[in-house]
Amino acid sequence: MQSFIFHNPTRLYFGQGQLEHLKNELSNYGANILLVYGGGSIKRNGLYDQVITILNNANKNVFELSGVEPNPRVTTARKGIEICKNEKIDFILAVGGGSTIDCTKAIAAGARSEEDIWDIVTKKTSASDALPFGTLLTLAATGSEMNPGSVITNWETKEKHGWGSPYTFPVFSILDPVFTKSVPRDQTIYGMVDIMSHALEHYFHHENNTLLQDRMVEGILQTMVETAPKLLEDLENEEHRATVLYNGTMALNGMVSMGYHGDWATHNLEHAVSAVHDIPHGGGLAILFPNWMRYAIDENVERFKQLAIRVFDVDPDGKTDKDIGLEGIEKLRAFWNSIDAPSRLADYNIDEDTVEEMADKTVIANAEFGNFKKLNRIDAIKIYTASL
Ligand code: NZQ
Ligand code: ZN
Repeated sequence: MQSFIFHNPTRLYFGQGQLEHLKNELSNYGANILLVYGGGSIKRNGLYDQVITILNNANKNVFELSGVEPNPRVTTARKGIEICKNEKIDFILAVGGGSTIDCTKAIAAGARSEEDIWDIVTKKTSASDALPFGTLLTLAATGSEMNPGSVITNWETKEKHGWGSPYTFPVFSILDPVFTKSVPRDQTIYGMVDIMSHALEHYFHHENNTLLQDRMVEGILQTMVETAPKLLEDLENEEHRATVLYNGTMALNGMVSMGYHGDWATHNLEHAVSAVHDIPHGGGLAILFPNWMRYAIDENVERFKQLAIRVFDVDPDGKTDKDIGLEGIEKLRAFWNSIDAPSRLADYNIDEDTVEEMADKTVIANAEFGNFKKLNRIDAIKIYTASL
């Protein structure tokens, strides 16, 4: 385990009825609020009306940015930045899934910068400040509600990049499982795959003595394997929604990843697929992760063996370590198939024609990526080809 400093400043309100704390949280900030949301799900499920009532009762001047896209666009973030600068916005409230929250982070940083936000996203320059913002999360998936990361798409150049800064932690996040009950079946599946993928990205590292971290990450995976089928049987079940919601936050808020660096190549591979084809992040991960695992298994067979035995109950008797590891990968594939997650790029009508273009998007200036196994453009082509 490496030395580390852990600090997560986001105040988390979790559970039914926690929206009652919103008014008090907002009392810490000025009157001008930018409300950011997506394509209308919060209007359909009634959350928008609840939030507007609270904002009105708190005597806030509400400005709105709606229509944040899944895979949020830099153009939308620029619109929000303009509103913040023109209207002297004091605080941003994001109500939605990871895309709405990620866009809000870009708006918050861009509002306190003279640079174009795309230069911050692509790390030509960095954020030096951000407007304060809070979130009401409506979809369990990304962990964006309690981390400083943001993923923004430039549709003109077909690029999608993750970035973050110490200034882009939400000051608070309110998570009520009731907000997530209206998430449709397909988005629920993508979210659960994303949560499991964050655990898997953590799991593949070469650090020694991460006994507790391993158990915590395995715990997330086991809980998801146990809960996902139950939730899909009963999408309105608040207990299962709460379990998945809590898992999503824990999988990417730094709590289970102290003292080591996970791999994250599969996320890079997936972002390139969504950059070119605009597919849901979790759908892409479900296709790519098992193929990355098969490609990377020889890097440290022991990790794959441990995962197979502890999470997927593979019987090790009479098998080589590699066979055990491979069986674990098959069980992950079978599990994701069983919850109707996509398994091939063809499921999104992606064929060999764009493999090279996607591979180009995974590497910036020929850099390698992935901490557990270093990958280059050629490796990306092989993994995409295996995923067709
Ligand atoms: O736009 P609306 O109308 O709100 O509908 C959304 C959207 O169509 C809908 N939805 C959300 N909550 C709902 C709901 N529908 C009904 N009821 C509700 N309660 O779901 C659709 C998808 O929403 P989105 O926010 O795009 O999903 P998600 O939370 O999975 O976010 C995906 C984005 O996050 C990035 C991904 O790359 C992708 O761009 N990620 C961000 C990370 C981070 N910041 O830490 C890490 C992740 O690995 C990921 O890369
Ligand atoms: Zn993810």
